[in-house]
Amino acid sequence: MAFTNVPQLSKLDERRTLAMLMGGSSQQQVATHFGVHKSTISTSFVQRYFEFSSMDCPFPWIVSKQSPNQLTDVYDGWSESYDKDVNGIHYVAPLILAKTLAAFYPVGGRTVKVLDIATGTGIVGFELQKLGFSILDGLDPSQRMLDAARGSNVYRNLICKYFTAEPTPGLEKDSYDVIVSAGSLFPGHLPPDCFIEAARIVKPGGLICVITRTEGKGSFFSDPKYLDKFKATIKLLKEEEKLEEIKWEKTNYYKSTSGVLILYRVLQ
Ligand SMILES: C[S@@+](CC[C@H](N)C(=O)[O-])C[C@H]1O[C@@H](n2cnc3c(N)ncnc32)[C@H](O)[C@@H]1O
Repeated sequence: MAFTNVPQLSKLDERRTLAMLMGGSSQQQVATHFGVHKSTISTSFVQRYFEFSSMDCPFPWIVSKQSPNQLTDVYDGWSESYDKDVNGIHYVAPLILAKTLAAFYPVGGRTVKVLDIATGTGIVGFELQKLGFSILDGLDPSQRMLDAARGSNVYRNLICKYFTAEPTPGLEKDSYDVIVSAGSLFPGHLPPDCFIEAARIVKPGGLICVITRTEGKGSFFSDPKYLDKFKATIKLLKEEEKLEEIKWEKTNYYKSTSGVLILYRVLQ
């Protein structure tokens, strides 16, 4: 017998139905999905999680935005609960990034000038400061994320701008020892040729250290065109003897999500 008049389930309904069929609360479903305890998952995260359609990206509302401005609006709106949401699923990338950098600078040498690109609420700066890095500036297009970062008193200057391959107004050549960035080298966020500008700003001998997610929708590995352009940019910078590769290393990003740590030395 054919079923007629069966209402079409929206993506949201589908997910709720799935959660109900699987048993347990939605909060438990999300916690199980990320391998963390239910108590670390906020109800607002669960609500937003089920409202979006890409199950394999923990924060699907940042994926597939039509324009940079749209994405910035999303981050402005997310700034208040961002830290709680990412910490809830054990966002380990900033700590891994900070420890990587610390291995290159002995305790007495952590007075290097660091620019944190895509600062967000400043989790990377917080981890770097704990390890003794004391001169930290941040750059991000979302004023509300930067306002949250300012609250932690970690950064010296916070610049509200997009980072691209083009020279950033106000940032001189060779003005930093190190550029770091976590959770921003993927489609829709930092452009794939942005290392051109990073290599301009960092002094010869300095480092560019980036960590990003490689699993799931919207990740660094999700769009071949983006990845190819990134690799082509690196190839060009290496041919021009501006960059030297130190390593690409598979790492954790969230507790149960993979990432990659990318580290280059600037040569000239
Ligand atoms: C997932 S958050 C990561 C924030 C922070 N680095 C962290 O690890 O928590 C991504 C950030 O990238 C910023 N962003 C997106 N496009 C950018 C661009 N072109 N230049 C600089 N920041 C950008 C967003 O505003 C947002 O704050």
